[in-house]
Amino acid sequence: MPARMIGTGSALPKKAFGNKELEKLVDTTDEWIKSRTGIENRYIAVEESTTSMAVEAAKRAMEDAGVGAEELDLIIVGTISGDMCFPSTACQVQSAILATNATAFDINAACAGFLFGLTIAEAYMKAGMAQTALVIGAETLSKMMDWNDRSTCVLFGDGAGAAVIKKEETGIEGIVQGSDGARGGALVCKNRPVNNPFVHNGFLTDYTKMDGQAVYKFAVQTVPRAIEEVLDKTGVKAEEIKYFLLHQANIRIIESVARKLNQPISKFPANLQECGNISAGSVPILLDFVNKSGKLVRGDKIVLAGFGAGLTWGAAVLTW
Ligand code: ACO
Repeated sequence: MPARMIGTGSALPKKAFGNKELEKLVDTTDEWIKSRTGIENRYIAVEESTTSMAVEAAKRAMEDAGVGAEELDLIIVGTISGDMCFPSTACQVQSAILATNATAFDINAACAGFLFGLTIAEAYMKAGMAQTALVIGAETLSKMMDWNDRSTCVLFGDGAGAAVIKKEETGIEGIVQGSDGARGGALVCKNRPVNNPFVHNGFLTDYTKMDGQAVYKFAVQTVPRAIEEVLDKTGVKAEEIKYFLLHQANIRIIESVARKLNQPISKFPANLQECGNISAGSVPILLDFVNKSGKLVRGDKIVLAGFGAGLTWGAAVLTW
C-alpha cells in the first residue's frame, strides 16, 4: 500500500457541556447517559463552525507532519454537517490554509467518513493522482439535534480531526469498507424539502432521528467482522495490534467488539467520555489524542474503524 499517515491534528469547541448541565435541559440523568453510553461530556460549538474547526485541525496536522500547504494536492473532508450546501467544506479549508495546489471535495459517509476519506486518498496515491493528502472529519452535530429529544441530543458533540497522508511504500497496510443502504432508515436527517413554483412543502428543516437499538445491533455485528476482514487481508494478527481506535458512539459497543475479537479492553482507547459521538470527527480526534499523548512509536500497528449512517462502515490497518 503506497501511503503513510505522517501527522495528526484536532480541534474542539471551547464550550464543554456536561451531563449534569444537560439534566437541566432535557428529562435525562447523568446516571442514565453514563450507564447506557459511557458519555460524560461533549463540546458544543458556540463561536466555532464546521469549517473553522476543520481548518484548525488541518493546521495542527500539517504542523505535526512538517508539511506546508503548497505541498498538498488533495483535501478530503468527511462531514454531514458542513456550514454550506456549497461550496464544500474542503474547498473552504483549501481557501483558508492557502493550499492552492490541491483538489478539494467533501464526502458523506457519516461516522465512517474519515475511513472513507482515507480509502479515497490511498486510492488516489495508488493511481498516481496524489502525493500528499489532507483527510479531515469535521462536524457540528449540535445544529442537527432536536434539543427536546433526549434519545438523541445527549449522544453527540462537535469537533474536527485531521491527518496528513503521504505517498510512501508502507503505512496504510489495508482498508475495507462497505455500506448497506437498505438499512439506512435506522439513522436519518432529512434535508430541506422540495419547494419550487409547482410544489410547496414548507421550509422546516428536520433533525436527527435514530433507531438506537438497530444501530447498536448493526455496530456490534459489523465492526468485528470488518476488523477481522482487514486483518485477514493484511495478514496481521489481532495480537500484533497495539490499539484499536473505534468510532466513539458507545462504550458498550466498544466493549462488545473487544470481546468478539478476544482482545483486552486496554487496547481500545476511548475519549467518548469527554467528547461524545462526533460522527466523522470521532476517529481522527481519538487518533490525535493517542498520537499527541506519545503512545505511538514508529512501527506500531493500529486499527481504525468507523460505522454509522448510510449504513456505512470501514476499517483499516496502519503501521505507524
Ligand atoms: N435519558 C433518560 N432516558 C432515556 C434517554 C435519556 N437520554 N433516552 C432514552 N431514554 C429512555 C427511553 O425513553 C426508554 O424508556 P421506556 O423504556 O420507558 O420506553 C428507555 O430509556 C430505553 O430506551 P432505549 O432506546 O431502548 O435505550 P437503549 O438501551 O437502546 O440505549 C442508545 C439507547 C444509547 C442510543 C443505544 O441504543 C445506542 O448506543 N445505540 C447505538 C447508537 C450509535 O451507535 N450511533 C452511531 C452512529 S451515529 C451516526 O452515524 C451519526
